[in-house]
Amino acid sequence: MQQDLNVVVLAAGRGTRMRSQLPKVLQPLAGRPLLAHGLATARALAPRSLCVVYGYAGDMVKQRLSMPEVTWVEQAEQLGTGHALQQALPCLGNGSVTLVLYGDVPLAQESTLRQLVALASTGALALLTIELAQPTGYGRIVRNASGTIERIVEERDADEMTRSLREINTGLMAIPSCYLADWLGRLRNHNQQGEYYLTDIVALAVADGVTVTACQPAHEWEIMGVNDKAQLAALERQYQRNIASRLLVQGVTLLDPARLDVRGSLRCGCDVTIDVGCVFSGTVVLGDGVTVGAHCVLEDVEVGAGSQIAPFSHLQQCLVGTDNRIGPFARLRPGAVLNTAVHVGNFVEIKNSVIGDESKVNHLSYVGDSAVGKRVNVGAGTITCNYDGANKHRTVIEDDVFVGSGTELVAPVTVKAGATIGAGSTITREAPAGELTLARERQKTILGWKRPQKRGK
Ligand code: UD1
Ligand code: CA
Repeated sequence: MQQDLNVVVLAAGRGTRMRSQLPKVLQPLAGRPLLAHGLATARALAPRSLCVVYGYAGDMVKQRLSMPEVTWVEQAEQLGTGHALQQALPCLGNGSVTLVLYGDVPLAQESTLRQLVALASTGALALLTIELAQPTGYGRIVRNASGTIERIVEERDADEMTRSLREINTGLMAIPSCYLADWLGRLRNHNQQGEYYLTDIVALAVADGVTVTACQPAHEWEIMGVNDKAQLAALERQYQRNIASRLLVQGVTLLDPARLDVRGSLRCGCDVTIDVGCVFSGTVVLGDGVTVGAHCVLEDVEVGAGSQIAPFSHLQQCLVGTDNRIGPFARLRPGAVLNTAVHVGNFVEIKNSVIGDESKVNHLSYVGDSAVGKRVNVGAGTITCNYDGANKHRTVIEDDVFVGSGTELVAPVTVKAGATIGAGSTITREAPAGELTLARERQKTILGWKRPQKRGK
């Protein structure tokens, strides 16, 4: 159901302190642009309208975040947060409350925002505030003797008394929409920065007899902003700690919750164990009893129950069935589909191939564009020669085949069921079922041959 709500995300700041070509709101947090986090939360609120006020590199931002429900509003000159919100006025929906978010404050939780919106639904101006031990840099919440909020004073405009206040403005607020146009129109830029401060609407509300109220986030990290790479890194760690805590609560064994990186979604079954230094990106699903060894990288992978991924394996866009043993040092590339009880060992690369039940590719092999049947043993150093320099071709290895070590299978080629290929063969034609096929030179010995000697000086 749609809420009676407009959301505006202020994101026109350039982010010079990032010292990057990439606009601040596109800097990645947990593998996604900063702004994408806030937009995802905003979207979860199901607002009537969702506006983003952008400034710098608008085309790039719009393109990278393509979200059909977002209305993009340009603020050509950054004249302050009040001015920014004013630019969005014509694009707002008819929500009775307007929620203001910051593009560089990515982790505000949905529950916190709902609380803020609920306060504003009663007709009050609702601020998200928090007491900080180190309030430096933030706008301070000034209350009167009875504790009622009177105004917000920016750090730069504050006297010593005001600076000593520890309750700060997080910047996030929910405003009854009916007052917006009037209050924004009355803002003046008579301050240190010569900007139109959104925060000045607080004093206007008080003057108009509108209640100003505040609520607090459940966690301090919800309001943490990102201005430079150090803050970005700090927030990344916080995000990862949150994910690790959630996984631990779900019963996942993390050998060290501080050494886990999830850049996307990770879903785990029962009794999953993850060793240190693993990176999960895209959508990863680990079935019951799966173990992932140290320093594995998994991207868009599904791993079936009981499978074990040994250290230093790299799995990308592939499907691993149940009871597999993968790695160490395995590389599963896009389109690798391993059925049940498959073994893939060290320095083996598999791409766009199906490997049947109980088959083994244990050492130093490349299997590409292939269909491998059941109970096949692919010997060490076997290579499917799938590429002729122009086109890719398929290799078919049927059930119960034994491929001797060091074999080259020159595709397109088929090895029929139960065939045995002698080690060191270069197979270019179909190998018949149940027979031994060899394609290598006969061994010969040259009797009495002498090694060359070094010429005397
Ligand atoms: C603002 C608040 C301050 C609060 C702090 C919290 C004002 C005047 N001050 O200060 O009380 O403690 O945030 O972090 O609002 N932006 C625009 N257009 C502009 C200016 C800013 O879109 O012209 C956007 C920025 O991209 C950013 C947000 O608004 O997402 C806040 O801007 P910023 O310059 O960081 O505000 P502060 O001075 O830190
Ligand atoms: Ca800021």
